[in-house]
Amino acid sequence: MKKDFFTYQAQTTPHPLALEISHAKGSYIYDMQGNGHLDFVAGVSVCSLGHCHPKVVEAVIEQTRKYMHVMVYGEFIQQPAVVFSKYLASLLPGNLETTYLVNSGTEAIEGAIKLARRYTGRSKLIAAKNAYHGNTLGSLSLMNFEERKAPFRPLIPDISFLEFNSEQDLCKISKDTAAVILETIQGGAGFIMPKEGYLKKVKDRCAEMGALLILDEIQPGFGRTGNLFAFEHYQCVPDILVMGKGMASGLPVGGFTASHEIMNSLSNSPKLGHITTFGGNPVIAAAALATLKELTNSNLIPETLEKEKHFRSRLKHPYIKEIRGKGLMLSLIMKDEEIANKLILSCAKKNLILFWLLFEPKAVRISPPLTINTEDIDLGCDIILQTLNELEQ
Ligand SMILES: Cc1ncc(COP(=O)(O)O)c(C=O)c1O
Repeated sequence: MKKDFFTYQAQTTPHPLALEISHAKGSYIYDMQGNGHLDFVAGVSVCSLGHCHPKVVEAVIEQTRKYMHVMVYGEFIQQPAVVFSKYLASLLPGNLETTYLVNSGTEAIEGAIKLARRYTGRSKLIAAKNAYHGNTLGSLSLMNFEERKAPFRPLIPDISFLEFNSEQDLCKISKDTAAVILETIQGGAGFIMPKEGYLKKVKDRCAEMGALLILDEIQPGFGRTGNLFAFEHYQCVPDILVMGKGMASGLPVGGFTASHEIMNSLSNSPKLGHITTFGGNPVIAAAALATLKELTNSNLIPETLEKEKHFRSRLKHPYIKEIRGKGLMLSLIMKDEEIANKLILSCAKKNLILFWLLFEPKAVRISPPLTINTEDIDLGCDIILQTLNELEQ
């Protein structure tokens, strides 16, 4: 299987972890030899309710028996997408009431870019340095890493960058700006938190200039940081909220939410302003609804903050220089890049799954399922500390 994987399946790096999967349940992924691997990554912040949560599996089976694909997005009334969107609106503040469901995070970003341009009639976008918003051409244009962009140029024009958390840079937002797009917490950059009051200042400046604020919550959204969305910690409601990853607890999905007035501009002048075949797919929407109900009817969201405290109290070692992030979106900033690499690879051999961050080579990702229990947190922390002690010798 390994040979076929490398031959027939397109690769993203020359050195994938290449763990061959048999099945997964809760916080564990099982290999073909039956070994359980404790999952501190959750498919990169995706499996919010753990692997194969019974309520999500049940919702998928039930919907699959009724109907799967019946029409492209937006033509027929398909209950799962309507009920999910209405429930989400009831949980969101302000006039974040209308959701466009798509198939991935990057597609949601593309939709949000188009929506902002169409609604404001302006073309200029401002993104933050070190941001990651996805890999299709529009989203890639929002990234300031020339090395990863250059081979794919020309990308979309009229994009400039500000320094995340720099109030000085807010003067770059002008009456020509269609939208400012920020990750509420910068993920790939190393889990960088917004400074107190920063996001609100961005929002105020956008409002003053008639620009929209787009917040990318693809990673922190759906409960990972102690609120349903991370922006709720910062007294700042975006004009367009972008989501994905943990939304359907393991199935491919994305979405963007705005006021009815803003969102309406995608369905006229021109009509069909954004279209998708599979967006709002009923099976996936059923999984998203089951996920959202479970998150909001349990204590999983507030418990992420308790679990964060537990991680922070356990993970003390001279090689761990800092722990960044919030809730169960944490990154260990190691002494150097070599220690980070060795830790990830050695822990993989001890059946603990850790992972890298895109742009911070000293960082080690910890983003387990929100359902992880204290025993498994302790077990994983023991493996990390034991490995670091070995590396010290
Ligand atoms: C903050 C953020 N935005 C956008 C994306 C892109 O999402 P997707 O990979 O589903 O296209 C990601 C994925 O890692 C992300 O972390």
